[in-house]
Amino acid sequence: MKLRPLHPRFGVEVQGVDVRTVTADRLYPEIRAAFEEHSLLLFRGQDLDDAAHLRFGALFGPVEDRSMGRNGPEPRMDNVTNRQGDGTIAATDSLHTLNLVANQLWHTDSTFLPVPALANLLAARVLPSSGGETQLVSTRAAWRDLSEDLKARARKMVLRHRLAHSRQGISAELAALPAMHRWDDQLWRAVWRNPVTGDEALYVASHACGVESMAVSEGQAFIADLIASATRPEMIYSHAWQGGDLLVWDERATLHRGLPWPYAEERTLASICISAQDIDGLAQVSP
Ligand SMILES: [Fe+2]
Repeated sequence: MKLRPLHPRFGVEVQGVDVRTVTADRLYPEIRAAFEEHSLLLFRGQDLDDAAHLRFGALFGPVEDRSMGRNGPEPRMDNVTNRQGDGTIAATDSLHTLNLVANQLWHTDSTFLPVPALANLLAARVLPSSGGETQLVSTRAAWRDLSEDLKARARKMVLRHRLAHSRQGISAELAALPAMHRWDDQLWRAVWRNPVTGDEALYVASHACGVESMAVSEGQAFIADLIASATRPEMIYSHAWQGGDLLVWDERATLHRGLPWPYAEERTLASICISAQDIDGLAQVSP
C-alpha cells in the first residue's frame, strides 16, 4: 500500500489496494490510520458491486439507512443519480434534478440526522461526458487558518442543522416536500475534534441554518463567512471521476459539493454513509 498526495492540504490516493480484499485485520488498520490523518482517500481501478461496497464500508462503522422512506432493494445504498426508477433520465427542471443540484452547495453529509455521518464512500458507476466533478476541502486546514480570536468564538458555538434549509436555497417547492421534514432540527458544536489525531476541524454545512444564541440573520451570515473562508479556491481538491474510482472522505473534517454536468446525460455514483460513534468523537460535538 502506497500513499500519494492529492492536494497540498489534505487527501491521498491509496495505491496497490483492491478494497474487496481488505478485512478488519488485513490493511484496514493502515487504511483507517490514513483516513484519520488525511481526511480523504482515493482508490482507483476498483471493481465494486453493492455487496463489496457495503462490506468495505462496514469496516468503518455502522452503515446509515439512506432510504429516506423509499422502498429500495438495499436501504443502505444511495445512488446519487439522475436515472429514475422507471429508467428515464430526470428532466432538467424536475424536483429530482433540483435535489441533485442542492448537492452543489458546500456541505457535509447527514448533519440533519439524529446520528451524523463519519464517512461517505462514493463510487463511480455511470459518468457523464463532461462535468460532474466532486470537489472537497479540508475544514481541518480551514480551522488552522482561522485567527485565535475566531477559534475561541467557534469553540463555544452550537449550530442548528435542517435539511429543508439547504433545499430552500435551491427551490421553495423542493424544500416543502415531506421528505425534507422527516427530522427535527439537530444541534451540533461548530468544531469537531478528532479523538485519534487531536486535530480540530470546523463542522459546518449548507444544512446549518443558524447559530444558537445569535439572531438568525447574524448566525446565517457567520456560517456563510465560515464556509467562504474554508472553500477559497486554493483550498479545493477537484475530483474528475474515472471509471473504477472510489472516494472515502471524513465527514468530520471536510466539506464537499458536486459540479454541474449535462443533465440530459446519466451520472450515477453509488454512495454509502457510515454513522459516527462516540469513539469518533460524537459525544463531544453534541452540546
Ligand atoms: Fe453529499
